[in-house]
Amino acid sequence: MPGDVTDLLRTTGSVRTFTDAPVDDATLHAVLDTARFAPSGGNRQPWRVAILRDLDARRNVAALMQGVWDEYMAYNRAGLVPFATETLPEGSIEHVPNPLLDMIDTIPVVLAIAADRSKIAVMDSGFDRPSLTGGASIYPFCWNLLLAAREHGLGGVMTTFLTRAEAAAAPVLGLPDGHALAATIFLGYPVHQPTKLRRQPVESFTTLDRFDGEPFNIGN
Ligand SMILES: Cc1cc2nc3c(=O)[nH]c(=O)nc-3n(C[C@H](O)[C@H](O)[C@H](O)COP(=O)(O)O)c2cc1C
Repeated sequence: MPGDVTDLLRTTGSVRTFTDAPVDDATLHAVLDTARFAPSGGNRQPWRVAILRDLDARRNVAALMQGVWDEYMAYNRAGLVPFATETLPEGSIEHVPNPLLDMIDTIPVVLAIAADRSKIAVMDSGFDRPSLTGGASIYPFCWNLLLAAREHGLGGVMTTFLTRAEAAAAPVLGLPDGHALAATIFLGYPVHQPTKLRRQPVESFTTLDRFDGEPFNIGN
Protein backbone atom coordinates (compact mmCIF):
# COMPACT_ATOMS: atom_id res chain seq x y z
CA MET A 1 0.00 0.00 0.00
CA PRO A 2 1.44 3.42 -0.92
CA GLY A 3 2.32 5.71 1.96
CA ASP A 4 0.93 9.03 0.78
CA VAL A 5 -1.19 10.64 -1.91
CA THR A 6 1.71 11.49 -4.23
CA ASP A 7 3.00 7.97 -3.99
CA LEU A 8 -0.48 6.57 -4.63
CA LEU A 9 -0.98 8.72 -7.72
CA ARG A 10 2.46 7.97 -9.11
CA THR A 11 2.38 4.23 -8.61
CA THR A 12 -1.11 3.01 -9.44
CA GLY A 13 -0.45 1.00 -12.58
CA SER A 14 -2.70 -1.48 -14.32
CA VAL A 15 -2.99 -4.94 -12.80
CA ARG A 16 -4.22 -7.72 -15.03
CA THR A 17 -3.22 -10.84 -13.13
CA PHE A 18 -4.67 -11.69 -9.76
CA THR A 19 -4.02 -14.22 -7.04
CA ASP A 20 -6.75 -16.72 -6.16
CA ALA A 21 -7.58 -14.79 -2.99
CA PRO A 22 -11.21 -13.67 -2.97
CA VAL A 23 -12.19 -10.08 -2.24
CA ASP A 24 -14.71 -10.07 0.58
CA ASP A 25 -17.88 -8.00 0.47
CA ALA A 26 -16.76 -5.67 3.27
CA THR A 27 -13.62 -4.77 1.32
CA LEU A 28 -15.49 -4.23 -1.93
CA HIS A 29 -18.08 -2.15 -0.11
CA ALA A 30 -15.34 -0.04 1.47
CA VAL A 31 -13.79 0.58 -1.95
CA LEU A 32 -17.13 1.68 -3.42
CA ASP A 33 -17.81 3.74 -0.32
CA THR A 34 -14.63 5.75 -0.94
CA ALA A 35 -15.04 5.92 -4.73
CA ARG A 36 -18.43 7.63 -4.33
CA PHE A 37 -16.69 10.83 -3.26
CA ALA A 38 -15.70 11.42 -6.88
CA PRO A 39 -16.69 14.71 -8.46
CA SER A 40 -19.42 14.91 -11.11
CA GLY A 41 -21.08 17.76 -13.01
CA GLY A 42 -23.66 19.40 -10.76
CA ASN A 43 -22.82 16.70 -8.21
CA ARG A 44 -25.44 14.56 -9.95
CA GLN A 45 -23.47 11.34 -9.38
CA PRO A 46 -24.64 9.47 -12.47
CA TRP A 47 -22.86 6.20 -11.65
CA ARG A 48 -24.39 2.76 -11.38
CA VAL A 49 -22.36 -0.33 -10.58
CA ALA A 50 -23.23 -3.95 -11.32
CA ILE A 51 -21.07 -6.53 -9.55
CA LEU A 52 -20.87 -9.46 -11.94
CA ARG A 53 -20.86 -12.69 -9.99
CA ASP A 54 -23.00 -14.90 -12.16
CA LEU A 55 -20.71 -16.94 -14.39
CA ASP A 56 -23.08 -16.91 -17.34
CA ALA A 57 -23.29 -13.12 -17.20
CA ARG A 58 -19.50 -12.89 -16.98
CA ARG A 59 -19.02 -15.24 -19.91
CA ASN A 60 -21.59 -13.38 -21.98
CA VAL A 61 -19.94 -10.03 -21.49
CA ALA A 62 -16.47 -11.54 -21.98
CA ALA A 63 -17.59 -12.97 -25.32
CA LEU A 64 -18.85 -9.55 -26.36
CA MET A 65 -15.61 -7.91 -25.23
CA GLN A 66 -13.61 -10.55 -27.10
CA GLY A 67 -15.30 -9.55 -30.37
CA VAL A 68 -14.40 -5.92 -29.75
CA TRP A 69 -10.84 -6.90 -28.79
CA ASP A 70 -10.42 -8.87 -32.02
CA GLU A 71 -11.57 -5.85 -34.01
CA TYR A 72 -9.29 -3.55 -31.98
CA MET A 73 -6.30 -5.77 -32.69
CA ALA A 74 -7.14 -5.90 -36.40
CA TYR A 75 -6.96 -2.10 -36.48
CA ASN A 76 -3.60 -2.25 -34.71
CA ARG A 77 -2.26 -4.78 -37.20
CA ALA A 78 -3.41 -2.54 -40.04
CA GLY A 79 -1.59 0.42 -38.44
CA LEU A 80 -4.89 2.28 -37.91
CA VAL A 81 -6.26 4.04 -34.83
CA PRO A 82 -9.01 1.67 -33.63
CA PHE A 83 -12.58 2.76 -34.36
CA ALA A 84 -11.44 6.13 -35.71
CA THR A 85 -12.23 7.31 -39.22
CA GLU A 86 -10.84 4.54 -41.40
CA THR A 87 -12.51 1.18 -41.93
CA LEU A 88 -10.82 -2.19 -41.69
CA PRO A 89 -9.84 -4.17 -44.77
CA GLU A 90 -12.36 -6.96 -45.43
CA GLY A 91 -11.61 -10.24 -43.63
CA SER A 92 -8.90 -8.80 -41.42
CA ILE A 93 -10.53 -9.62 -38.07
CA GLU A 94 -9.21 -12.76 -36.42
CA HIS A 95 -9.28 -14.17 -32.90
CA VAL A 96 -6.55 -12.80 -30.62
CA PRO A 97 -6.43 -14.26 -27.11
CA ASN A 98 -6.92 -11.74 -24.31
CA PRO A 99 -5.65 -13.11 -20.99
CA LEU A 100 -8.08 -11.03 -18.93
CA LEU A 101 -11.06 -12.33 -20.82
CA ASP A 102 -9.75 -15.87 -20.86
CA MET A 103 -9.79 -15.89 -17.05
CA ILE A 104 -13.16 -14.17 -16.68
CA ASP A 105 -14.47 -16.99 -14.45
CA THR A 106 -11.78 -16.51 -11.84
CA ILE A 107 -11.16 -12.75 -11.72
CA PRO A 108 -12.07 -11.89 -8.12
CA VAL A 109 -14.19 -8.82 -8.92
CA VAL A 110 -15.77 -7.79 -12.22
CA LEU A 111 -17.66 -4.51 -12.16
CA ALA A 112 -19.75 -3.02 -14.93
CA ILE A 113 -19.99 0.74 -14.54
CA ALA A 114 -22.84 2.62 -16.16
CA ALA A 115 -23.81 6.27 -16.24
CA ASP A 116 -27.30 7.76 -16.22
CA ARG A 117 -27.12 10.01 -19.27
CA SER A 118 -30.06 12.08 -18.04
CA LYS A 119 -27.82 13.30 -15.21
CA ILE A 120 -24.96 14.45 -17.42
CA ALA A 121 -24.73 17.92 -18.94
CA VAL A 122 -22.75 17.25 -22.10
CA MET A 123 -20.96 20.52 -22.74
CA ASP A 124 -19.76 19.46 -26.17
CA SER A 125 -22.95 17.85 -27.41
CA GLY A 126 -23.90 18.59 -31.01
CA PHE A 127 -20.32 19.25 -32.03
CA ASP A 128 -18.92 17.82 -35.23
CA ARG A 129 -16.77 15.41 -33.21
CA PRO A 130 -17.41 12.79 -30.54
CA SER A 131 -18.15 14.21 -27.09
CA LEU A 132 -15.31 14.23 -24.56
CA THR A 133 -16.91 16.02 -21.66
CA GLY A 134 -19.75 13.51 -21.41
CA GLY A 135 -17.39 11.06 -19.79
CA ALA A 136 -16.04 13.55 -17.31
CA SER A 137 -18.80 12.84 -14.80
CA ILE A 138 -18.19 9.10 -14.70
CA TYR A 139 -14.48 8.43 -15.19
CA PRO A 140 -13.33 10.24 -12.03
CA PHE A 141 -15.53 7.74 -10.17
CA CYS A 142 -13.89 4.84 -12.03
CA TRP A 143 -10.44 6.13 -11.24
CA ASN A 144 -11.35 6.82 -7.61
CA LEU A 145 -12.40 3.20 -7.39
CA LEU A 146 -9.02 1.97 -8.64
CA LEU A 147 -7.18 4.32 -6.29
CA ALA A 148 -9.36 3.37 -3.32
CA ALA A 149 -8.74 -0.29 -4.09
CA ARG A 150 -5.03 0.14 -3.43
CA GLU A 151 -5.58 1.02 0.19
CA HIS A 152 -6.84 -2.53 0.59
CA GLY A 153 -3.91 -4.04 -1.30
CA LEU A 154 -6.03 -4.53 -4.40
CA GLY A 155 -5.08 -3.78 -7.98
CA GLY A 156 -7.02 -3.66 -11.17
CA VAL A 157 -7.63 -2.18 -14.55
CA MET A 158 -10.32 -0.16 -16.24
CA THR A 159 -11.43 -1.21 -19.70
CA THR A 160 -13.89 0.40 -22.08
CA PHE A 161 -14.30 -2.21 -24.77
CA LEU A 162 -17.71 -3.41 -23.56
CA THR A 163 -19.16 -0.01 -24.48
CA ARG A 164 -18.66 -0.86 -28.13
CA ALA A 165 -20.99 -3.83 -27.63
CA GLU A 166 -23.39 -1.88 -25.43
CA ALA A 167 -26.54 -2.80 -27.35
CA ALA A 168 -25.82 -6.52 -26.98
CA ALA A 169 -24.61 -6.18 -23.39
CA ALA A 170 -27.63 -4.15 -22.25
CA PRO A 171 -30.06 -7.09 -21.87
CA VAL A 172 -27.38 -9.25 -20.23
CA LEU A 173 -26.72 -6.57 -17.62
CA GLY A 174 -30.23 -5.15 -17.32
CA LEU A 175 -28.85 -1.76 -18.33
CA PRO A 176 -31.62 0.75 -17.62
CA ASP A 177 -32.97 2.92 -20.43
CA GLY A 178 -31.04 6.13 -20.87
CA HIS A 179 -27.88 4.67 -19.32
CA ALA A 180 -24.54 4.22 -21.05
CA LEU A 181 -21.93 1.60 -20.29
CA ALA A 182 -18.81 3.50 -19.24
CA ALA A 183 -16.34 0.82 -18.19
CA THR A 184 -15.70 -2.67 -16.99
CA ILE A 185 -13.32 -2.74 -14.04
CA PHE A 186 -11.44 -5.85 -12.95
CA LEU A 187 -10.10 -6.04 -9.39
CA GLY A 188 -8.22 -8.50 -7.25
CA TYR A 189 -5.07 -9.02 -5.25
CA PRO A 190 -2.17 -8.44 -7.67
CA VAL A 191 0.31 -11.14 -8.54
CA HIS A 192 2.59 -8.18 -9.15
CA GLN A 193 1.84 -4.50 -8.46
CA PRO A 194 3.56 -2.38 -11.12
CA THR A 195 4.87 0.83 -9.61
CA LYS A 196 7.28 2.23 -12.20
CA LEU A 197 4.88 3.87 -14.64
CA ARG A 198 5.97 5.29 -17.97
CA ARG A 199 4.47 8.75 -18.46
CA GLN A 200 5.54 11.80 -20.47
CA PRO A 201 7.23 14.68 -18.58
CA VAL A 202 5.33 17.87 -17.68
CA GLU A 203 7.23 19.94 -20.28
CA SER A 204 5.99 17.70 -23.07
CA PHE A 205 2.34 18.61 -22.52
CA THR A 206 2.29 21.96 -20.69
CA THR A 207 2.83 25.31 -22.35
CA LEU A 208 2.43 28.96 -21.41
CA ASP A 209 -0.67 30.93 -22.43
CA ARG A 210 -1.44 28.90 -25.55
CA PHE A 211 -1.17 25.27 -26.54
CA ASP A 212 1.47 26.31 -29.06
CA GLY A 213 3.24 28.45 -26.43
CA GLU A 214 6.60 28.01 -24.72
CA PRO A 215 6.99 24.76 -22.78
CA PHE A 216 6.42 25.32 -19.06
CA ASN A 217 9.58 24.98 -17.01
CA ILE A 218 10.11 25.99 -13.42
CA GLY A 219 11.08 29.68 -13.46
CA ASN A 220 10.06 30.63 -17.02
C1 LIG B 1 -10.21 4.70 -20.84
C2 LIG B 1 -9.27 3.54 -20.62
C3 LIG B 1 -9.49 2.36 -21.32
C4 LIG B 1 -8.65 1.26 -21.11
N1 LIG B 1 -8.91 0.09 -21.75
C5 LIG B 1 -8.16 -0.99 -21.49
C6 LIG B 1 -8.49 -2.24 -22.06
O1 LIG B 1 -9.46 -2.38 -22.80
N2 LIG B 1 -7.72 -3.32 -21.76
C7 LIG B 1 -6.65 -3.20 -20.92
O2 LIG B 1 -5.98 -4.20 -20.67
N3 LIG B 1 -6.29 -2.01 -20.38
C8 LIG B 1 -7.05 -0.92 -20.63
N4 LIG B 1 -6.73 0.29 -20.05
C9 LIG B 1 -5.52 0.41 -19.21
C10 LIG B 1 -4.41 1.12 -20.01
O3 LIG B 1 -3.91 0.22 -20.97
C11 LIG B 1 -3.32 1.59 -19.05
O4 LIG B 1 -3.84 2.55 -18.16
C12 LIG B 1 -2.14 2.22 -19.80
O5 LIG B 1 -1.61 1.34 -20.75
C13 LIG B 1 -1.03 2.60 -18.83
O6 LIG B 1 -0.52 1.42 -18.25
P1 LIG B 1 -0.06 1.40 -16.73
O7 LIG B 1 -1.21 1.94 -15.96
O8 LIG B 1 0.22 -0.02 -16.40
O9 LIG B 1 1.15 2.25 -16.63
C14 LIG B 1 -7.56 1.38 -20.24
C15 LIG B 1 -7.35 2.57 -19.53
C16 LIG B 1 -8.21 3.63 -19.71
C17 LIG B 1 -8.00 4.89 -18.90
